[in-house]
Amino acid sequence: PEHARELLDRATLIIASNRGPVEFHLASDGTFITKRGTGGVVTAMSAASRYTEAIWVACAMTEGDRLRAEMAREAGEAVITPPDGDFRLRFVLPDPDAYFGYYNRIANPLLWFLQHYLWDTPRAPDVDHLTWDAWHHGYVTVNRMFAEEILAAVSAAHREPLVMLQDYHLYLAPGFLRERRPEIVLQQFIHIPWPDQDYWRLVPRAMRQAICRSLLANDIVGFQTPQHARSFLNTVEANLDDVEIDRRQREIVSRGHTTRVRVYPISIDPAHVLEVAESEDAKRHEEHLRSFLNEYTIIRVDRAEPSKNVVRGFLAYDRLLEAHPELLGRVNFLAFLVPSRLEVAEYIDYLDDINAVVGRINAKYANVAEHQGINWQPVHLFIGDDYPRALAAMKHYDVLLVNAIFDGMNLVAKEGALLNQRNGVIVLSEGAGAYQELGRWALTVSPTDIEGTAQALYEGLTMPESERALRARQLRELVIEHDLRRWIADQLSDLAQLRAERHAR
Ligand code: F6P
Repeated sequence: PEHARELLDRATLIIASNRGPVEFHLASDGTFITKRGTGGVVTAMSAASRYTEAIWVACAMTEGDRLRAEMAREAGEAVITPPDGDFRLRFVLPDPDAYFGYYNRIANPLLWFLQHYLWDTPRAPDVDHLTWDAWHHGYVTVNRMFAEEILAAVSAAHREPLVMLQDYHLYLAPGFLRERRPEIVLQQFIHIPWPDQDYWRLVPRAMRQAICRSLLANDIVGFQTPQHARSFLNTVEANLDDVEIDRRQREIVSRGHTTRVRVYPISIDPAHVLEVAESEDAKRHEEHLRSFLNEYTIIRVDRAEPSKNVVRGFLAYDRLLEAHPELLGRVNFLAFLVPSRLEVAEYIDYLDDINAVVGRINAKYANVAEHQGINWQPVHLFIGDDYPRALAAMKHYDVLLVNAIFDGMNLVAKEGALLNQRNGVIVLSEGAGAYQELGRWALTVSPTDIEGTAQALYEGLTMPESERALRARQLRELVIEHDLRRWIADQLSDLAQLRAERHAR
């Protein structure tokens, strides 16, 4: 839209997220190698930074980041300009203890597990004195440091600064920013689910009140789905007394400041995804993967993450093989899993659980297959962070399994819909944000329903070709229409409107 374009011509986006767009690693010859940061936030905001001048504020997460930041500081440079990328970078440098508390005790697992309704799965991260210590000396401290760094970027900006905060790591930053700069435009997007107000009672009142209070310092708070937005309004109402909520307009007035609550379902950049999927690297992987495909191929791509429900996915596959022995030897399950957050005990345990269930299934059917004279391994695990390989695999599924317990959106479902070349079917959890947009053309399952998931896998594998083709086409068109550009344009357009209203006053 016109007013968003005009805004971009005048604005500097100040993007803030825990994980930055690039990681620095020190090579043996003393130079720095840069590697693209991983995850949905980085992918989405890297695209946003292509449209206008952007400064990215992020935590130094690798030893290389830290060294590179310190080098810049010694040279008196405020920002780092990475060799490729459309942004400049400012690192936040917390000390390791503060960072550990912030990232490995509060953000993950406490907030992450709470917001995915995983308080008790697989193990409760109880709130004890260590949690409180991590809150005060980790989460609060690092959020304050983010606010300081963002303020420095705001002061240095020659154009109008628009601050776009990302996700659950930074819930307290808007409060600190608003105290110091009452006039600044602040927007925050929450990439993960926002659970119901009752569920928030599992964190102490003082924490949830501080989170709600600070989020209301934003001018706009964005969510993936209307449910998450509604749950946020309810949570604010249940926890703060001095607010007025207009549910129809989705606006909250608190202490004289208005916060708009909006919905922006995130998506993928089809051109970029296709480019990576067609790269030489991806093609090399595709050749290698061919020998793993079978008459029927089920694929999943996830971080090795409890909320992704990987173990139940394998249990459903086991059930499928039990119920349909005619499939023995004819179906393969390829799982591409990226190890994640390995400093959090629950994630290490979860990787062990995944390996155990895969080992059990492969052993069980190895015996069966041997009796029938077939040489067959039902599950193949591919562990590691290899985006081109994952995209290459997605071209070839007959069924893509996306059975997350809860998920903010789930971009794998969208990447799969775009790339698949076999009229593959998506088995999609009702708990994923993507269910809202893609549910009509996927086979949908309740994430804990193992029997139902097994049946959906069977239905997906054996569905008549004409129906598969229709569903695949509809899914693909939906993803192309609701792409990442639209996600960004909708946010910028709301920001432009907010700014126009302010100037008119
Ligand atoms: O929004 C969730 C998210 O921040 C995504 O960027 C990505 O899926 C994942 O979490 C990355 O997690 P981490 O930065 O902790 O590895």
